[in-house]
Amino acid sequence: KNIRIIITNLLAVLSLGLFAQNGSYKLEFDSQKYKKQTLEYRGQKFNIRAFEGIVYVANPVDTVYHKMNIYIPEAYFQGNSINGYSSETAPVFFPNQIGGYMPATPASTQNTGFGNERPMNNRANRDRREGRPRSDRPRTGNRDGQFRHADNRPSMMETAQKENTVIAALSKGYVVASAGARGRTNKDGNGRFYGKAPAAIVDLKAAVRYLKYNDKAMPGDANKIISNGTSAGGAMSALLGATGNNPDYQQYLDELGAANGSDAIFATSAYCPITNLDNADMAYEWQFNGIDHYRKGGMFASEGNNTEMNLTEQQTGVSTALKNMFPDYINSLQLKNLQGDILTLDKDGNGSFKTLVKSYVIASANKALKEGTDISQYKWIVIQNNVVTDLDWDAYIRYMERQKTPPAFDALDLSSGENNLFGTDIIDNQHFTEYGQQNTTTSASRADKHIVKLMNPMYYIGTPDSETAKYWRIRHGSKDKDTGLAISAILATYLQNRGYQVDYALPWDKPHSGDYDLDELFQWIDSISR
Ligand code: DHB
Repeated sequence: KNIRIIITNLLAVLSLGLFAQNGSYKLEFDSQKYKKQTLEYRGQKFNIRAFEGIVYVANPVDTVYHKMNIYIPEAYFQGNSINGYSSETAPVFFPNQIGGYMPATPASTQNTGFGNERPMNNRANRDRREGRPRSDRPRTGNRDGQFRHADNRPSMMETAQKENTVIAALSKGYVVASAGARGRTNKDGNGRFYGKAPAAIVDLKAAVRYLKYNDKAMPGDANKIISNGTSAGGAMSALLGATGNNPDYQQYLDELGAANGSDAIFATSAYCPITNLDNADMAYEWQFNGIDHYRKGGMFASEGNNTEMNLTEQQTGVSTALKNMFPDYINSLQLKNLQGDILTLDKDGNGSFKTLVKSYVIASANKALKEGTDISQYKWIVIQNNVVTDLDWDAYIRYMERQKTPPAFDALDLSSGENNLFGTDIIDNQHFTEYGQQNTTTSASRADKHIVKLMNPMYYIGTPDSETAKYWRIRHGSKDKDTGLAISAILATYLQNRGYQVDYALPWDKPHSGDYDLDELFQWIDSISR
């Protein structure tokens, strides 16, 4: 009997540890709890301290994803400097591994970019969809490795082995902190979803607060947090940058027992942010209307469904309807180019905004040309005296190929990841646009408008109650069709117009991916941090 009591108590203590109740976790950083690691980057060895698996909120609802890894160069504990940074001045690089709006584990020195839970079309994925954590899964891939075929054969995008972003950043003298976050498939024992919007952004904010709260207790300057992410993770990085300290998120942060204080960050790096979701369907059709065939890719690519398919007549109709709605949206934003001219579109979708987007593609081709890339195969590019002067937009879009069917995000049959993101604790999938709900092929409900707002940086940039990050670096590959080019162009321009410093480019021929230009990323970080 005694043994039974002991076991019962033990189980109670254990489960308390796993599903902590109020205030079970301390928010004070424990500087003694680390492991030494010797890392190597491009032939150089260096030592760091690894503080892994820190629960970053007092009341986690999930101790798999509410965890953060913090890595600090040993030099900062010895009073030494790296790359011009000291223990007091080193920026804090804050990469997330969120992809597909799925739950994500923190990045580590052992792996980056494949620690997230992606809706891959294989058995492991079905396990994950049940909400079962897969921390045991070997994570040897890279950020491009997110899309695998059903038989686990690497997709086209992961053929190039990449460097580990965390190790690369540490070699530059940055402190690296990476937080896990809940995602749209998380489900508790009672069948309730607990990672639907806005969970992921709340989690990243809570982690930022932890870092700021503990700024004095650890090397690195938490006033210089530089967020980084790709795709849905890029969207969360942008949202983190846009919404610093906005009271809209307070209630959610309180529920988790996040540290008090600021969640504003210094800078945002975002690769192909799948953002501005409530306007992204229109942007997609503005770009792809007229392309009536598609090749599934991205999140839902799998063996057998990446062959070319045709849009149905109903879908081409949806495409045209959405395309026709886009000019009003653009014109309502009152965007300006660098010369101060207003950017507009006429009812056919032509005009100065299109010229702007095209100019970024031309700039991209020019950079590729200067770097020695052979772009002569693309007959739609006009090159004069070794300078790209123009391109045929329609031919460029045909070369890109359509990947998604209209509406690309708020799918009328509720089949998209974004429908799933905007579910509630008891409803798995919902619409989140007026068009989606009005044209639904199901009897679906629509997400609360406030929740949709909480996920879109456009509503927060430069507002009086947001402390928007001053520095932004936004990249969207010139061959990335997971969202329309207009989405990142709007984000970049809207920020620029409000006085934020924006470095925006569409890297040549890059498909949906991120962290492919770390040297340039780190140059940018150094240029704003020193
Ligand atoms: C991602 C890709 C998508 O196409 C999308 O709609 C949402 C997220 C991603 O890779 O994170």
